[in-house]
Amino acid sequence: MEKLVVKGPTPLKGEVTISGAKNAAVAILPATLLIDGVCTIENLPNISDIKISCEILEKLGAKITWNNKNSITIDTTNINTTKAPLDLTSKFRASYYLIGAMLSRKGEIEVGMPGGCKLGARPIDQHIKGFERLGATVTVEKGRISAKAKKLTGTSIYMDIVSVGATINVMLSAVLAKGTTTIDNAAKEPHIVDVANFLNTMGADIRGAGTDMIKINGVEKLSGNATYSVVPDQIEAGTFMLAAVATKGDITLKNCITKHLESITAKIIEVGGKVEDNGDSIRVWCNQRPQKANIKTLPYPGFPTDLQPQMGVVLSIADGASIINESIWESRFQYTDELNKMGAKITAQGKTAFFEGVKKLSGAPVYSTDLRAGAALVIAGTVANGSTEIYNLEHIDRGYENIEEKFRKLGAKIERVTE
Ligand code: EPZ
Repeated sequence: MEKLVVKGPTPLKGEVTISGAKNAAVAILPATLLIDGVCTIENLPNISDIKISCEILEKLGAKITWNNKNSITIDTTNINTTKAPLDLTSKFRASYYLIGAMLSRKGEIEVGMPGGCKLGARPIDQHIKGFERLGATVTVEKGRISAKAKKLTGTSIYMDIVSVGATINVMLSAVLAKGTTTIDNAAKEPHIVDVANFLNTMGADIRGAGTDMIKINGVEKLSGNATYSVVPDQIEAGTFMLAAVATKGDITLKNCITKHLESITAKIIEVGGKVEDNGDSIRVWCNQRPQKANIKTLPYPGFPTDLQPQMGVVLSIADGASIINESIWESRFQYTDELNKMGAKITAQGKTAFFEGVKKLSGAPVYSTDLRAGAALVIAGTVANGSTEIYNLEHIDRGYENIEEKFRKLGAKIERVTE
């Protein structure tokens, strides 16, 4: 078993380069199934969710060549099965994108029920509603989802809930449909725009991605033969910004899009941090104990749920009492029990958590309960006095490329140890 051992406290200082966005990349890889040919994807984060995605695509018949650790060339000419491996598809959430992509490509697909972080109920009714509106039949039974369509026809779809996954999935299933599809009440996250940009680069006709109304004019085929670079990861960037504040450090983030970081920047300034926007890089520093603040997570451009646990670390050591209201997921406060083992004073009730800021945290053995909780614990370990041992690293490795190396380069005393 592996664990991370972090010895703190250390103010994190220096430069860090942000990787490509996990949540864009896990959609762009299945989107390559729409292309009858070859394309190259660059700035892919080197994380386990991407390795699993590539393994699934290879099992479906794609040929993948790794150009370097962050770039692949993928040939999807010979997709020869419509049954995705159940064991692999159940390992992560984004396997649901195979449904939209394969409905477009082959008119048929069977996948395992998507897995991923346990954040409470994660229904996919809006995905299914979209596929059915386009003409597909979807069956969910015995832990698998089967979808079939003789023909997909453009239509108007209103999303009852703002959903990242459903918006992207419907986009994937509508790109090659006959006629025009509109998605109303669409999600607006940067990765939605990125997937649309990728598909448009390959010949799709998608307009309005990044607004709440997306229009997809169906095209006959996507031609490929292009290179696409994945957008920088807004959540990894936010993680390092909050690490700078929590540790009273000074970090410059390279390869990020500062426009995507506005809600985080605003909260960092509210708690007493400083932010300097230099276009494609951003500097964040903090010379004081963070101040209290209240947070409500919201779909983009609101404060992202995927940075809520990392912000929770900042508020756990803030001067004063703070409240976080989690409006996206039912169960995203499991990390607060771990922070309390380190001396934090947090009471979580349902979708609300109350933070009574403490002056310091102290090292303890703790467990990542999900991906972003794991990142929050790495920050907490860097803040805390003494040694913190972080277990369940598989969660962190799903979404952060080389987390310990990036923290170490900023001065953290962090080692991965095999027990
Ligand atoms: C994506 O999940 C991300 N995952 C999550 O990131 C992120 O937390 C979430 O969006 C919100 O930003 C990927 O992109 C792979 P949703 P997704 O559909 O698409 C409800 C991380 O740490 N809903 O936007 O599954 C749902 O229950 C992960 O990187 C329905 O009711 O999220 C939730 O309350 C964790 N019916 C809300 O909508 C549906 O059909 C938003 O979920 C779909 C969703």
